[in-house]
Amino acid sequence: MENLKHFLLALCAATAAGFVSIIFVFRWVLYFKEGLAWDGGLAEFNWHPVLTVTGFIFLQGIAIIVYRLPWTWQCSKLMMKFIHAGLNLLAFVFAVIAMVAVFDFHNGANIPNMYSLHSWLGLTAVILYGLQLVLGVGMYLIPVTPVSWRAAFMPLHVYSGLLLFTSVIAVALMGITEKLIFGLKDPKYKDSPPEAIFVNVLGVLLVLFGGLILWIATRTSWKRPSDQILHSLHTNGGGEDNSKVASALSQLPDGSDAYGAGDARKRSNKFDEQVN
Ligand code: HEM
Ligand code: HEM
Repeated sequence: MENLKHFLLALCAATAAGFVSIIFVFRWVLYFKEGLAWDGGLAEFNWHPVLTVTGFIFLQGIAIIVYRLPWTWQCSKLMMKFIHAGLNLLAFVFAVIAMVAVFDFHNGANIPNMYSLHSWLGLTAVILYGLQLVLGVGMYLIPVTPVSWRAAFMPLHVYSGLLLFTSVIAVALMGITEKLIFGLKDPKYKDSPPEAIFVNVLGVLLVLFGGLILWIATRTSWKRPSDQILHSLHTNGGGEDNSKVASALSQLPDGSDAYGAGDARKRSNKFDEQVN
């Protein structure tokens, strides 16, 4: 991998920002707020930030960069797809439970549902994330889906995945701000009590985590070696055509491709399995 040191630095910084965000959200609800319970009250609401930060943000971020980890490049692409899909599914389950917690709390306390911009964008993100999951499984895990569909859909899959991830972080920042404004009465948010400062830092950490994940996921030189070839073919208008793939692979210097020695046709078949 090119610039392995930079990759490891970005990865460590991202995981550190993610872990510290999780510690912060737990400390917020357990120390500053009412704790955690499933009782229809404020302690049930608290599952909402906890599960969105740990699941919908952290797990989704890790799912997005899982293909980029160099020590997984010797695993089959199929295995990596299962890990990517599994982590995204887990993130979705966390998000759904987080939604149930807040709706249940609102209904119990007679608070209207879906009045805020936070709730509109948040629920839209959860629904589109579910759709992305279903389409991802349909396109990349069901063996009968034509290779040409898979290749054509990939730029949209990557774009919508990154857009969703970014939107979810923006939605979390709105939720955090709302909660601080509603929850801090005496002293108020504007008086900067310790809870306000602490939770503002949580927001900064989430932006840092998001920025680092987006940085890692958008470096072409940090892709799995086979995917770098696909990227160069796509950007040269090559699509998934096997002859172009074969010639691109055969242009690689000896030993520099992902599959070791072998003729271009064999590598091209391997390419089909790897990319799709
Ligand atoms: C309410 C989604 C993160 C605070 C809601 C509601 C949805 C939602 C759909 C409406 C519930 C209803 O109308 O009954 C999301 C999503 C998040 C997220 C998708 C993913 C990041 C957060 C975070 C906080 C938060 C991190 C911080 C505490 C709130 C608050 C409400 C709420 C205070 C009640 C007020 C309102 O309806 O806007 N959220 N939320 N949310 N959420 Fe979030
Ligand atoms: C790649 C997001 C679900 C299959 C990606 C990438 C993103 C992403 C951002 C680009 C990663 C990179 O360039 O390294 C998401 C999100 C999902 C989701 C947010 C869930 C809501 C799925 C599912 C599958 C899948 C269920 C089924 C296997 C793939 C494949 C790639 C990919 C094959 C290409 C990886 C590569 O070769 O670079 N996804 N994905 N995704 N995703 Fe998903």
